[in-house]
Amino acid sequence: MLKRILTGDRPTGPLHLGHYAGSLSERLKYQADPESECFFIIADYQVMTDRLNTKAIQGDILEVVRDYLAVGINPDKSVIFVQSQIPELAELTMFFSMLTSMSALGRNPTVKEEVRAAGLGAKMSLGMFSYPVSQAADILLFDATHVPVGEDQLPHLEMTKQIGRRFNAQFGETLVIPEPVVSNVPRLLGLDGNQKMSKSRGNTINLSDNPDVVRKKIRGAVTDSGIEVYFDSKEKPAISNLLLMYQIATGDDMSEIEKYFSGKRYGFLKEQLVDALNAFLAPIRERRERLSDHAICWALQEGTFRAEEEASVVMRRIREALHFDYPKIFS
Ligand code: TRP
Repeated sequence: MLKRILTGDRPTGPLHLGHYAGSLSERLKYQADPESECFFIIADYQVMTDRLNTKAIQGDILEVVRDYLAVGINPDKSVIFVQSQIPELAELTMFFSMLTSMSALGRNPTVKEEVRAAGLGAKMSLGMFSYPVSQAADILLFDATHVPVGEDQLPHLEMTKQIGRRFNAQFGETLVIPEPVVSNVPRLLGLDGNQKMSKSRGNTINLSDNPDVVRKKIRGAVTDSGIEVYFDSKEKPAISNLLLMYQIATGDDMSEIEKYFSGKRYGFLKEQLVDALNAFLAPIRERRERLSDHAICWALQEGTFRAEEEASVVMRRIREALHFDYPKIFS
């Protein structure tokens, strides 16, 4: 059974270790699986849910693609494309908005949380309120079967499935109903001890950080009280987080890692972590250096072209089901 994988990112800055652990490493596995076809969407419309200053958007898109290729996403195998360059996505969002109730959107916990974090309240834009509908279009327009996402995206996936089922019930079997695939890697905390490693908080190890930056950031990372190193995310959240980063960088088992650090001080863990991270990032940095701007633009052009081919076929099917295949009455 062929799997169609679709997932993506908002282009809002460099990708970090949390992205790698929770998402990019999974994508590499799917890419290596001959039974899977991968589509990666760069969700530029979604950037406008939290900022109207779009001056940097083109550079940010290219940086995401650079990060993708640097970690090993291969544009000959995987389709990397830009959301706003597929006009059918806007069209399908319009149709889907007719299948979605205001109350269901108003209950979406992820949107609620984002609105709260931005301090927007009822001032949120219509686009922000309804972006899960646009995301449903991202997924259903490409006949995705599997959508690897973080847990925060599950409400959007639930809504996507609802829209798909509703469409099929009303207009006949047309859309493939996808399943989310949630990564079982625990979420990384920020280096500042904050709940989430996130670019907006500046508490990340970026995949593009150079060795000195990695050293500085790890040396400055918060730790917990006490001196002993062991894994206990309740008692030692910051130290456990550093151990988790060490695990991501080395791929070792946590029990081995704990044994290695038992009886050692925080300073030793930090030193070892710097080395492990730099060893892990070295091949990514090397690949990044070899990437020309031309290769990045080519990957994006080629991917967007392939995505558009797919989109036009599925959209034709959708318009027919909706009886909106008007070329009939115009020809
Ligand atoms: N909302 C996702 C995020 O912030 C990005 C995204 C946009 C996405 N469209 C998607 C993810 C479709 C999966 C499928 O991470």
